[in-house]
Amino acid sequence: MSETSYDAVPYGNETHPRTHISHLFTIGRLFNLTPPDFRKGRVLELGCASGSNIIPMAADYPDAQFVGVDLSEAQIRRGQELIGRAGLKNIDLRAQSIADFGSAEPFDYIICHGVLSWIPPEVRTALLKLMRQNLSSNGLAVVSYNAMPGWGAVRSLRDIMLYHTAGFPTPAEKMAQARALLQFILDSQGDSSSPYRNFLEQELNLLKGANSNYFFHDHLEEHNQPFYLHEVVAMAAREGLAYVADTDVPSMFLGNYKPNVGQLLAGTNDPVRIEQYLDFVTNRRFRSSVLMRAGTPINRSIASARIEELWLQSLLKPENAVADGELAPDIVVRFSTETGLPHTARGALSVALLSMLSRFGRPATVAEIVVAARERYRLPQSEPELRQNLCEIALRLFLMRIVVLRSDPARYVDTISERPVGLPLARVQAVDSDRVTNAFHQSVAIDPTGRIILQAMDGTRDRAALAELVAKAITSGRLTLLHNGNAVTDVAAIEQNAATTVDTLLSGFRVNALLSA
Ligand SMILES: C[S@@+](CC[C@H](N)C(=O)[O-])C[C@H]1O[C@@H](n2cnc3c(N)ncnc32)[C@H](O)[C@@H]1O
Repeated sequence: MSETSYDAVPYGNETHPRTHISHLFTIGRLFNLTPPDFRKGRVLELGCASGSNIIPMAADYPDAQFVGVDLSEAQIRRGQELIGRAGLKNIDLRAQSIADFGSAEPFDYIICHGVLSWIPPEVRTALLKLMRQNLSSNGLAVVSYNAMPGWGAVRSLRDIMLYHTAGFPTPAEKMAQARALLQFILDSQGDSSSPYRNFLEQELNLLKGANSNYFFHDHLEEHNQPFYLHEVVAMAAREGLAYVADTDVPSMFLGNYKPNVGQLLAGTNDPVRIEQYLDFVTNRRFRSSVLMRAGTPINRSIASARIEELWLQSLLKPENAVADGELAPDIVVRFSTETGLPHTARGALSVALLSMLSRFGRPATVAEIVVAARERYRLPQSEPELRQNLCEIALRLFLMRIVVLRSDPARYVDTISERPVGLPLARVQAVDSDRVTNAFHQSVAIDPTGRIILQAMDGTRDRAALAELVAKAITSGRLTLLHNGNAVTDVAAIEQNAATTVDTLLSGFRVNALLSA
């Protein structure tokens, strides 16, 4: 196989939580489908790069079988090395083209993130055909792509950069030249606050925050075709696939838009048409769409009773602590998320349920929350009545993005034990990566000291032993401890710093769901 541009500029070590099989299962259940059990299913990821998205799922579900396919041999090799070090037996990564892939057995979940826009038209058709041919009868697929209209304006910048960098041979030169040209165009705008200047400024800021593989593959790669949602739905339909939902379900909810949007779309029955207009309103530029085999009707009205099947996790905290015991019937409590999204709960029932939900922190079932709330706040209502109330509240808050609904509570602990244990895969990832995957399939950045102690957290070392490792790494020169810009060499100062650093890192691991039982 010849070297691909992804061998030269490999894709990053990222996970994509919205493509996680438990999330696809949740969406299927919310829309009244019966997707296969993700804990035991067969899962295929197409264009999996180095497997950073699929390998953590394989680590989480040892009874499920995983296959990843990517054209880039170098990326597949990197993934295979990680699988070998982690000792995973239920995953196979293959260096091959999507166009050549075949399987005797169908897959329950097919994931294809960030590929559809980046392949030539004939591979695109092969990809959708392959999805249809290899998806089990009630299986779910997810395909994500650059979307129109948001990508429309960005496309002109891509054209400018492609034109300018055509003569430069290496990806590094192309990236440097492209950035320099954009900066030059921006600097040439003078002090005006023209729409073009604002646009350039905004895109340059986005690119500054983006890592180089995103920059290269989105802007300087040969193929990058954005699509309108209706185009993807029509392409999928031609191959026998039907659109189910967006992986960001709240984005489909008209209540999240200005009232005039809801009024305009109220008379429309076609869910794709509604979402297409929402993209026009928001200028959306990326989409992640869930598909299934065509033929089964989809009932998209979410019954609040469905929530009883799931685990709830609140992003809200009360602005003032709610005291235990009976609550005043007219009590009003303001809650907010870490990002400042406010929510006001009114009345004893709502306040008690929401306060209990946020106290759990970890994902909890409706039944757990109701039993605890009833006892703590001495609620007079029956358990079934409270469960129904909580389901209704949780569904509303889920659609507002302030409650997360999960089909899997995730295996982690939120206390720091005497001899802490790190999540097994994260410990292996920390050997050669500054990003590790947490229990919620999120990619967490980790510094050099964090990498050292996470690798060592196998349950045999207490805080003192972990601090000793950090102190040794500093005295041996593997890590540098700076004070006012100078390296610290005093042993007592190093030991004290190592102890506080370990405390801080362990708290960070706890908050970031990186601790195992
Ligand atoms: C933009 S990257 C996305 C990678 C990964 N899915 C992610 O989102 O992090 C596109 C990936 O598709 C792979 N790819 C491109 N053409 C392919 C083909 N014909 N068959 C298999 N993989 C392909 C590339 O090697 C690359 O890893």
